[in-house]
Amino acid sequence: MTAKIYAIGVGPGDPELLTRKAERILRQVPIICAPTASPADSSYALSIVEPFLDRTRQEVIVQVFPMRRDQAGLEEYWETAAEEVAERVKSGSDVAFITIGDPFLYSTFLYIYRIFRYKYPEIPVEIVPGISSVSAAAAAAGLPLGQASDRIAILPATFEEQNLRQTLLDFDTVVLMKVSRVFDAVYAILQELGLEQKGAFISRVGSKDEQVVFDLASLVGKDLDYLSLLIVKKESVARSQEPE
Ligand SMILES: C[S@@+](CC[C@H](N)C(=O)[O-])C[C@H]1O[C@@H](n2cnc3c(N)ncnc32)[C@H](O)[C@@H]1O
Repeated sequence: MTAKIYAIGVGPGDPELLTRKAERILRQVPIICAPTASPADSSYALSIVEPFLDRTRQEVIVQVFPMRRDQAGLEEYWETAAEEVAERVKSGSDVAFITIGDPFLYSTFLYIYRIFRYKYPEIPVEIVPGISSVSAAAAAAGLPLGQASDRIAILPATFEEQNLRQTLLDFDTVVLMKVSRVFDAVYAILQELGLEQKGAFISRVGSKDEQVVFDLASLVGKDLDYLSLLIVKKESVARSQEPE
């Protein structure tokens, strides 16, 4: 089999944050698959790469990957999406599956990657890394993630109720992805640990709607964007380098 699947990280939102390799492949492939959470929503990943596509010669398939914490019943969506991709590759076409940020960091692609591995092991898959929202958010907030012996944790906030307190104590920098729906609970823990002024909330980084908020209290009780994350950094580099 010569055709393959490319899993392409398209970065967090700014088309200029695509790698040159991602752009080259996206311009070449005949088929692009893009994920969306529901049929009513457009694909954010697709909106990022639209400037590089030529719809007159490239087919774009938007696939539904419902997002919920309880993943029971979602396997059939992933199977359908994987099958759609596999069919096209088997008939000789390269397919690019695009995903926000990096494909190997909590991405939608990983749901079908597992299926490719056991169901279609003969299909080659090439992973094209992307700039993750974590790197882009750190840059936008001016918060270096780690220096020297700093310890960094990256966590999906939605799954962290029991462990978060300890993680915040154990690490110098904690990045909480998928934080929007549990922000109030996270903020309460930050307050309890005296860390409520040690972080930045970054949403839609790299897009025209990018927001960087340091006053975390102002976000409590608000309906927050899913495309947002929180960086908690105990000691800023600037402060730790100040002379005694
Ligand atoms: C399914 S994960 C995808 C992560 C992605 N693969 C990456 O490398 O950044 C979705 C979470 O990533 C974060 N995220 C993705 N894009 C973002 C953006 N443009 N701005 C801020 N956070 C973003 C949010 O925490 C969101 O809940």
